[in-house]
Amino acid sequence: MSNIKIAPSILSADFSKLGEEVIAIDKAGADYVHIDVMDGHFVPNLTFGAPVIKAIRNKTSLVFDVHLMIDKPERYIEDFAKAGADIIVVHAESTIHLHRVIQQIKATGKKAGVSLNPATPVDILKYIIDDLDMVLVMSVNPGFGGQKFIESSVQKIKDVRALSKTVDIQVDGGITDETIGRCIEAGANVFVAGSYVFSGDYKERIDSLKRG
Ligand code: DX5
Ligand code: ZN
Repeated sequence: MSNIKIAPSILSADFSKLGEEVIAIDKAGADYVHIDVMDGHFVPNLTFGAPVIKAIRNKTSLVFDVHLMIDKPERYIEDFAKAGADIIVVHAESTIHLHRVIQQIKATGKKAGVSLNPATPVDILKYIIDDLDMVLVMSVNPGFGGQKFIESSVQKIKDVRALSKTVDIQVDGGITDETIGRCIEAGANVFVAGSYVFSGDYKERIDSLKRG
C-alpha cells in the first residue's frame, strides 16, 4: 500500500455525536481528522471553533488537521494550537501577512500549511514553500461538502510538486475512489474526504481511497 494519508472531514459527520464519529473513523483506519473551521465571512458558511476541537481532542490520538477558512487567521492561531491542533492550515487569500502567520504557527510548535482556493495561482507559494509542512490544493470552492471535483486541480497539484519534492500536498473537495487516482499521479499524498467517507461504511470507503 502506498504512503498516502486519508483525512476524513468531520464536516460530513453527525454533529450530535462528534466524539463517537471521531472514534469511528480512527477505528476505520483514518490517518488524520480533518476539521473545517468556517467563519461566515471568508466562506459563506459557519461551523465550529476551538472549543469544539478541545472537546473531541481526548477521543483519539490521530493527527488533528485544522483547515481554517476564516478571515485574519492570525487572531486565533494560539487558540487552535492550545485546543489540540497538530497541523494548522491557513488560506493564502485570508491574510495580508501570510509569511508572518506561518511563523506564528511554527512558534506554537505545530505544523504549518497554506491552502489555495481554485483560482489562486501557485506562484504565491514561491517565497514561502520551504517554510511549509503542507500545501492544501482546494479542488472545490471552500464552504460546503459534497461539491464536484474541479479538474484544473490536477494541473495545480503538478505545479506545486514542481516547486517542492518534499512538501506534503493535500487535496480537499470532491475526493472519491473515482477522483483520487489522478491526484495521486499528479503528486498529492494527503486526501481529505467528507461526503464520500461518511455516506457509506467508513472502513470500506477509507480502504477504497487507499487503494487509489
Ligand atoms: C470544503 C471543506 C472540505 C469538505 C470536503 O470547504 O474544506 O473539507 O468537507 O467535502 P467533500 O469531501 O464532500 O467534498
Ligand atoms: Zn477542508
